Amino acid sequence: MRFQDRVAIVTGGAGGIGRATCLRLAEEGATVVVADIDADAARTTAAELATPGLAVQVDVGSPDSARELAATVTDVLGRVDVLVNNAGCDTIGPFADSDPATWQRLLTVNLMGTIACTHAVLPSLIEQGEGAIVCVASDAGRVGSSGEVVYSATKGGVIAFGKALAREVARHRIRVNSVAPGPTDTPFLNGFGGDLEKILNGMIRATPLRSLAQPEQIAAAIAFLASADADFITGQTVSVSGGLTMV
Ligand SMILES: NC(=O)c1ccc[n+]([C@@H]2O[C@H](COP(=O)([O-])OP(=O)(O)OC[C@H]3O[C@@H](n4cnc5c(N)ncnc54)[C@H](O)[C@@H]3O)[C@@H](O)[C@H]2O)c1
Repeated sequence: MRFQDRVAIVTGGAGGIGRATCLRLAEEGATVVVADIDADAARTTAAELATPGLAVQVDVGSPDSARELAATVTDVLGRVDVLVNNAGCDTIGPFADSDPATWQRLLTVNLMGTIACTHAVLPSLIEQGEGAIVCVASDAGRVGSSGEVVYSATKGGVIAFGKALAREVARHRIRVNSVAPGPTDTPFLNGFGGDLEKILNGMIRATPLRSLAQPEQIAAAIAFLASADADFITGQTVSVSGGLTMV
């Protein structure tokens, strides 16, 4: 039980990868906070956890909402040990056709959300003198993805944010790492629209291990990086993409 007596917050915890992460961490003994903008879905996921947890509604892109999340968790559960910055969104299409409202939404949820939640939770981790933060980035943030230009920029930002923070907070024994999923079988992929089957088959053909990732495979890497098994790993980015990228 790697997370016995540990409290873990998972943002976007009601979605595909987030939900799998909540289930995995709870199976390993964590008290999990399912933090999502969709309150009903967060409650549904919280009810499925092997160890009793908590559902909290949060809009990660709002620093006030992120602060309320952190305050609720410390009030109710008394501590935070792990933060998984997983909430994210995407809009697919040529950059030339995109508009500032879309850029702003992607930056607010993906990058500002990661920054705001981390900033809200960090004082508790510093006070405890240990903690782990795992950011869910994307292979798009490492190598770029056409049709996801601004999304790629936000995920590159998440990776750089994590590395810089890892250097800054290592003296408090707080580790910060990123997981970079490749195409993963969640509702997120529906955003590709068009002939989805053809697009997904193309992605599978480009992947050496010849399939989409399952959310549980991403959750396994997140759980590893959040656990004491990774206690000498910080500032790293781990691709979980069947070899789609090798950087
Ligand atoms: N599925 C993929 O192919 C893939 C690939 C690479 C990276 N990722 C990343 O993995 C993460 C999870 O994606 P997923 O595939 O599980 O997507 P998903 O759409 O299934 O789940 C996303 C979850 O985030 C929540 N959310 C959205 N905006 C929010 C906000 N402002 N505040 C709080 N919660 C919010 C949603 O309600 C949802 O529950 C994202 O950061 C995404 O960028 C996904």
